[in-house]
Amino acid sequence: MPTVSSSDTAIEVIDLHKSYGETEAVAGLSFEVRRGEVFGLLGPNGAGKTTTVEILEGYRARTSGRVTVLGLDPEGRPRDLRERVGIVLQNSALYANLTVHEALSHFASLYPAPRNVDETIALVGLQGKEDGRSRTLSGGQRRRLDLALALIGDPDLVFLDEPTTGFDPQARRAAWETIRSLRSLGTTIVLTTHYLDEAQELADRVAIIKDGRVVAEGTPQDIGGATAHQARVSWTDEYGAKQEIETDMPTKLLHEITGTALAAGRELTGLKVSRPSLEDIYLDLTMEEPGDE
Ligand SMILES: Nc1ncnc2c1ncn2[C@@H]1O[C@H](COP(=O)(O)OP(=O)(O)O)[C@@H](O)[C@H]1O
Ligand SMILES: [Mg+2]
Repeated sequence: MPTVSSSDTAIEVIDLHKSYGETEAVAGLSFEVRRGEVFGLLGPNGAGKTTTVEILEGYRARTSGRVTVLGLDPEGRPRDLRERVGIVLQNSALYANLTVHEALSHFASLYPAPRNVDETIALVGLQGKEDGRSRTLSGGQRRRLDLALALIGDPDLVFLDEPTTGFDPQARRAAWETIRSLRSLGTTIVLTTHYLDEAQELADRVAIIKDGRVVAEGTPQDIGGATAHQARVSWTDEYGAKQEIETDMPTKLLHEITGTALAAGRELTGLKVSRPSLEDIYLDLTMEEPGDE
């Protein structure tokens, strides 16, 4: 048996690259996921999140780099790993004619130590739908069944790629609750999302990805706090134009601006000092610069 580099490490990615022809979707990605945490891969569409997750799941071959998942190389989907990793299937057509209970019982029989079917139904909030055929479920209920199928093998590690995209606010909250319950059961969760609030709500740590690279990594609080000493001073000038300056020395800046205005006998309309929110920082980090293709 291969050994894990550290028993606290669930996933290790070192200098991962993946090219599709000319496109370098993943361009030197490195991060580590610890056991039992919810790790968020946060980034805009096209950042390389799905490519990364599919490499970790063993569904895609990498171009180069080192990848270890629960101590194993995922390429080729070794059996040991398949039994310990939960994957949300995108295509529910396979079991359209089975009831929720039948589908879960069937998949449970493929694993050496599956989770209890009724417990799993409760975990994803499908109580009352046990006898409904999959094809009669609503979109949100089908996504919950997908999640239940990922959990039925009682995996140590679960990959959730954009788990709430297209959900209404209520369904999103319900999915968040399920993810929190999973975490409390000790499951390691890798979650990709382009929703900042989702990462902030659920993730113990996040890596913000842009153009296949990590541009920031840490707890959501730390990433927000990294530039929290930054302040934004804004006002409307004498020509009616909105002015805005970012500074890490707001006191000095205010002194200068107000001093100049006072000396000229002008009022600074709408003068305001504010701090960028985590959302501002995320947008700053992931915004396309002019000249990017
Ligand atoms: N099978 C593929 N063939 C060619 N290009 C791909 C393929 N899959 C993804 N890409 C490209 O790789 C980049 C990253 O895509 P993806 O990993 O899906 O990003 P994300 O999940 O963050 O939206 C995008 O530019 C996308 O168009
Ligand atoms: Mg994606």
